[in-house]
Amino acid sequence: MGTSRMFRIFVVLGSAFMILLIIIYWDDVGASHFYLHTPVSPGPKVPHPVPQKRPQTSRAPSFLSDIDAFVNQFLEPGTGEPTDAAPADTSNQSEKAEERYIPRREWKIHLTPLAPELRDRQDQRRRLLQEMCANDSILFHGKNRSFDDIPNKELDHLIVDDRHGIIYCYVPKVACSNWKRIMIILSESLLQEGVPQRDPLAIPRDLVHNSSMHFTFNKFWKRYGKFARHLMKVKLKKYTKFLFVRDPFVRLISAYRNKFELPNEDFYRRFAQVMLRRYANQPTPPASVDEAFSLGIHPSFSHFIQYLLDPQTEKDMPFNEHWRQVYRLCHPCQIQYDFVGHLETAEEDAEHLLRLLRVDNVVEFPTSSRNLTASSWESDWFSTVPVEARRELYKLYEPDFRLFGYEKPDSLLNE
Ligand SMILES: *[C@@H]1O[C@H](CO)[C@@H](O)[C@H](O)[C@H]1NC(C)=O
Ligand SMILES: *[C@@H]1O[C@H](CO)[C@@H](O)[C@H](O)[C@H]1NC(C)=O
Ligand SMILES: *[C@@H]1O[C@H](CO)[C@@H](O)[C@H](O)[C@H]1NC(C)=O
Ligand SMILES: *[C@@H]1O[C@H](CO)[C@@H](O)[C@H](O)[C@H]1NC(C)=O
Ligand SMILES: *[C@@H]1O[C@H](CO)[C@@H](O)[C@H](O)[C@H]1NC(C)=O
Repeated sequence: MGTSRMFRIFVVLGSAFMILLIIIYWDDVGASHFYLHTPVSPGPKVPHPVPQKRPQTSRAPSFLSDIDAFVNQFLEPGTGEPTDAAPADTSNQSEKAEERYIPRREWKIHLTPLAPELRDRQDQRRRLLQEMCANDSILFHGKNRSFDDIPNKELDHLIVDDRHGIIYCYVPKVACSNWKRIMIILSESLLQEGVPQRDPLAIPRDLVHNSSMHFTFNKFWKRYGKFARHLMKVKLKKYTKFLFVRDPFVRLISAYRNKFELPNEDFYRRFAQVMLRRYANQPTPPASVDEAFSLGIHPSFSHFIQYLLDPQTEKDMPFNEHWRQVYRLCHPCQIQYDFVGHLETAEEDAEHLLRLLRVDNVVEFPTSSRNLTASSWESDWFSTVPVEARRELYKLYEPDFRLFGYEKPDSLLNE
């Protein structure tokens, strides 16, 4: 009859509609996947491997490294005895150069599982962060707000690499140049004779710190408009996020040595002159840094600390990134970092991290030959700073000490 025929037509139309919906849905999924992978700079296109679905390495690192070992038994000839030499490492320089254009195997197969103490160390650091963020007796500005409430300009330290699904929050004075170099290499945005640059140390210093080299979260707004926040949250959920920290007081010494003990015109004009005027009885400090250095004039470490403690300083403008607290740069209570590196264990942490990110066949962490500021110098440096000021300074940086597990420097604070 008419009704059963109508019914059949209805069913057919309905199915067609459902199929259409599924097609549209998949198209959408494909598009959004594509959308996530945006190159950092419009440089010449280089062939790159099809983005692989990365499993959440952070959630189950032990599980994955076990799989590494397991898979390896089938891939490698022999019995799969643990040896340190991985196939990629044995190729010599000339072979390496030729290799560059061959689509590379993104994952290095590891025969040895990751040392358990490295894994435990990360578990501890992440757990500590969670505890401190959940503990209501630890308070600091901005702790309670949600990610949506963080202004865009405060997201300018989060560097995104879509190609590998990595987000790095850079903290100046904590090996940040080297990690920025690695982010540039991973993004493959810097070409050397048409081939992506692969040597971190070959990237000139001023390029490393040029913000046009890095795709940071605060640039999302310009590119994605009102979808920016949503996209940020998607990436924060899917990508592996890391940061490096160091003892907060030692970081300050390092900042002072780097910016005020060495002639730096920019920092001299913006900060040293202010310190000299306010705390060193120099109403008219020399006009240029060269003049000041030739006269032997520069603010002392204790002037620098005075500047940090002066309430007027932050009224004028927020702390410069070289001494701004890590909790203000990286928002560790809003962003769940998968990896927290310490400068004090930088080499081990770098090896662990590159392995966790599965890029250890692409790039190596450059070993530093620079004269790093050592923790043991702390008491010497702070000997000119009154104990009362040291205690105030501790309060200013206490969240960083607590969040990242640095001991309260009791010997400095109880003299
Ligand atoms: C390195 O490559 C050169 C040229 O291909 C070759 O003669 C040499 O044996 C290689 N060395 C090693 C250690 O593989
Ligand atoms: C929260 O921090 C306080 C003060 O540091 C500490 O005494 C307390 O045990 C912490 N609470 C939790 C639940 O960890
Ligand atoms: C954050 O929340 C806790 C409890 O939820 C509250 O006691 C505290 O005052 C809040 N801190 C700030 C800075 O808003
Ligand atoms: C950063 O790089 C861009 C283009 O690569 C250049 O125009 C700009 O002058 C650079 N900025 C600095 C501060 O070097
Ligand atoms: C490192 O710095 C210390 C103190 O400034 C100095 O005594 C030492 O000679 C330096 N070492 C090198 C290798 O530059």
